[in-house]
Amino acid sequence: MVVKKNAVKSKPAIKKIVSSKAKNTVVKGKVEKTAKTYSVLRGMRDILPKEERHWSKLYHVAENLAEYFQFGRIETPILEEASLFVRSVGKGTDVVDKEMYIFEDRDGTKVCLRPENTAAVMRAYISNGLWNQAQPVKLWYLGQMFRHDRPQAGRYRQFWQVGFETLGSADPAVDAELIMIAHNFYSDLGLPVTARLNSLGVPAERERYRNELVNYYRGKRSYICGDCKARLTRNPLRLLDCKNKECLEVKETAPQIIDYLGAESKNHFMKVLEYLDVLEIPYQLDHTLVRGLDYYTHTVFEFYGPEGEEGAQSALGAGGRYDLLAEQIGGKATPGCGFSLGLDRVVLAWREYMSKNNQELPKQKMEIYVAQLGEEARRVALRLVNDLRGSGIKVGFNFSKGSLKIQMELADHAQVPYVLIVGQKEVQDKTVIIRDMESGIQEVVDQKKVEALLKRKLGHS
Ligand code: HAM
Repeated sequence: MVVKKNAVKSKPAIKKIVSSKAKNTVVKGKVEKTAKTYSVLRGMRDILPKEERHWSKLYHVAENLAEYFQFGRIETPILEEASLFVRSVGKGTDVVDKEMYIFEDRDGTKVCLRPENTAAVMRAYISNGLWNQAQPVKLWYLGQMFRHDRPQAGRYRQFWQVGFETLGSADPAVDAELIMIAHNFYSDLGLPVTARLNSLGVPAERERYRNELVNYYRGKRSYICGDCKARLTRNPLRLLDCKNKECLEVKETAPQIIDYLGAESKNHFMKVLEYLDVLEIPYQLDHTLVRGLDYYTHTVFEFYGPEGEEGAQSALGAGGRYDLLAEQIGGKATPGCGFSLGLDRVVLAWREYMSKNNQELPKQKMEIYVAQLGEEARRVALRLVNDLRGSGIKVGFNFSKGSLKIQMELADHAQVPYVLIVGQKEVQDKTVIIRDMESGIQEVVDQKKVEALLKRKLGHS
């Protein structure tokens, strides 16, 4: 093969990294002064390691519950066809009308970042033919949702939910099982919550109730706030959500949906309540609970944190039955019920509750610290740390520190019972010094025997 002279192109001297507003130029490997610094987008946030312990606990609790109650994990894409949510969550809801991150994909399809996951899980159930399997199909998920809402404490534009959905059973015992699982989630964290419950019946019953409600509120038009006047025509059931003082009084004497339910719906709801009584799960009946998504039928519920704390105002989790959702999105009739818990809010409420009650999550304790002195010792220590990885011993180290004094201080701070010290002499002798931090006694041990000896000392079998 003939290689032409100059065939290998030299690297361009200037590489441009262009952002929307700033031009950062890299000239000969050096970044020139930038015009802009970046921060996280409004309503979004970074979750840093100091919060991570709380988050991992939530994952574990959810995972354990899923395993015990036999829910299979499902991952659906973050991006879905926008009409999936328009048809299920419903036009006229805040989520669809105001909060969807909606845009046109390169092929012209209208897509959106999922604002919730129930419709997507049902879409997956239909499109993957899960209705062919033994019913009900029990699925759980953990992931980010996106709503372009007005950000405030506990309300983000990207937020995390863990959700459980049971598809293919209309049995009220399923509603109770799900409420029980959600309740267990909070109680496993040690966070007291209250479940609020209501029944929205079936569409014909709700329609009758909606008409009654509109008639009632029309008569009180001069007493209600501007928002409620708009709700009266746009989404009358949301009138019951209003927290304005003047509207609260009107709401108190408003008609209640329970009086508009037929025998079957009432019976379904009574059964759910009976099961919850058997399970000794406390709940409050809340006839104003209507939820902000259109797909619900029968049971709906929400969980709130302790009074006067974060999570007492906005729901920490919510769910309900959605027996018509499958048909709304083109599937065959499939009843379903589920819930999603807002993990960002749960972490906030839980941390506040723990700090008020002087509780702390147990920190992961290191058991030994590996200190080194000198370049060769660092190499030996590096290997030692890696070799101990499979031993189950929790090892602390900081190879960016050269001073033995600083490393001993770090070990002291970590309150480890033993420090392994590798210096020049130990490198040559293929040994390690094990220092007992309490007694100060040191012993020299063959590097090959360190693991077995440490396991004995630390009581690992
Ligand atoms: P949702 O009530 O819209 O229901 O949301 C469930 C939970 O997600 C809320 O109770 C709240 O904790 C959390 N959440 C909602 N919006 C935000 C936000 N902007 N920032 C932080 N947390 C938020 C659903 O999403 C339904 N898919 C629930 C369901 C599942 N129904 C049946 N199955």
